[in-house]
Amino acid sequence: MKIRIAPSLLAADFTRLAEEVHRAERAGADMLHCDVMDGVYVPNISFGFPVIRQISKITPLPLDVHMMTSCPRKYIDVLRDAGALIVTVHSDAMPPDEVKETIRAIRDTGMVAALALRPACPAEEILPYVHDIGMVLVMTVEPGFGGQKFMADMMPKVQAVRAILDRESPLCEIQVDGGIGDATVKDAAAAGANVFVVGTASFRAPDMGEAVSSIRSAAEAAYRTGWQNA
Ligand code: DX5
Ligand code: ZN
Repeated sequence: MKIRIAPSLLAADFTRLAEEVHRAERAGADMLHCDVMDGVYVPNISFGFPVIRQISKITPLPLDVHMMTSCPRKYIDVLRDAGALIVTVHSDAMPPDEVKETIRAIRDTGMVAALALRPACPAEEILPYVHDIGMVLVMTVEPGFGGQKFMADMMPKVQAVRAILDRESPLCEIQVDGGIGDATVKDAAAAGANVFVVGTASFRAPDMGEAVSSIRSAAEAAYRTGWQNA
């Protein structure tokens, strides 16, 4: 599986957003992670669709939209029109029927649907949706804020998700989000994650290009070697 690095715009300098997006391009980002928060599903509010729409106009990078909101279903068409490629919704943000319907709606628009598991949600929660999603996001912090400490105790869950996917949908990718940097990416890659959201450790590094390259190399070296040995 290809290693992909997704800098999180939440850690960018919002007073110069266009320059920050171009800085991520030059740093070798594979996609841009956009965190949408509604102040209900998570105790914080970030930015929304008008901002995503403007970003999509100035970059060729795929936009990976992480919906930390309680009713993502009603925004699927808006997200498509705003230029999103991947839309990730949380398994516990709505009843299971609505999760299914939302994932189908995302796919019907031609976007990639992804399902996020916050720390309290077990790997098995992906089972009803596993054939309709292109990516699983295993949160390695409580969603809502950048700059938090990586939860190493989520690694068995990454491994359990990979085991389910190997059986049910081998091409489905695993993303990790929260506290990823040089030191922590190895554990996550060794457990089977291949898409890495990096906020603080990319945008706020002294040299974003060097940070992205070194995180990528560490991930490539550790990928699926078994996190217990990482
Ligand atoms: C947190 C967000 C993350 C955040 C990661 O709820 O989903 O995407 O930006 O930031 P870092 O990499 O600083 O933990
Ligand atoms: Zn995120």
